[in-house]
Amino acid sequence: MTLHEFVKRMIGQAIEDIHTALPAKVEKFDPTTLRGDVVPLVKWRTAKDTEPEPMPLILDVPFWMPKAGPFILRMPVKKGDVVLLVFSERALDFILVDGQPQDPQFNRRHALDDAMALPGLLHQGEDNLPGEHGADVLLLHRETGVKIFMAQDGTVRVENPKAGSHWEMKPSGETNFKTPPHTVKLIPGGAVVVESPEILLGSDGAEEGVPLGITLKEWLDGHTHEYSWTSSGGSGTTSPPTSESPKPSEKVMVE
Ligand SMILES: [Fe+2]
Repeated sequence: MTLHEFVKRMIGQAIEDIHTALPAKVEKFDPTTLRGDVVPLVKWRTAKDTEPEPMPLILDVPFWMPKAGPFILRMPVKKGDVVLLVFSERALDFILVDGQPQDPQFNRRHALDDAMALPGLLHQGEDNLPGEHGADVLLLHRETGVKIFMAQDGTVRVENPKAGSHWEMKPSGETNFKTPPHTVKLIPGGAVVVESPEILLGSDGAEEGVPLGITLKEWLDGHTHEYSWTSSGGSGTTSPPTSESPKPSEKVMVE
């Protein structure tokens, strides 16, 4: 063996133990600690001329989630999800205990045991995402189709396509809610328009119909009574009331 070959083999063996990044599959995840067990999606040979076999399970791996100050966006990682593992250049045992710099106390470098997981890798066996909203910020449930998105123009919208429902706020502030057969529209500087086959005001047990103001007022102001008297005998009709009935609301209109 030449020196060149020797050095090459030495370097090759050293690189074998330096792990950088690998896709992996989730076996277990705890949403309260954001830690779980994963298995890398790469098989390796433990000895020369053997069949490649799965790598061992890596236990208690910290998962990365978007988190800042008091806020966190926790994604419900499930068994079978594919994640990206990155391998810490120093042992994680002590350096992730309290958010303060610590002596790692172990000599491991880029070891399999010191993986951190980033959820969100799409493997090619999965269904593609829908083509729409490619330019929007989208939160999508791929099984139900329920989605929340912010479009490029600033429109914010929540949709449940199977129910035909949506909530929407446009850049102008116009706000629409729809759940068939109901719609509610809030017009900036204008009216709120409620369309529905039945509108219950006050409670969901409301049963009394609201009178139609103009119709009622016309009847009140114009109605007469028949009357009769007996002393000298006779009958007639009263004149309409001498004072007007109250005006109907100009704010609340019903049909
Ligand atoms: Fe009357």
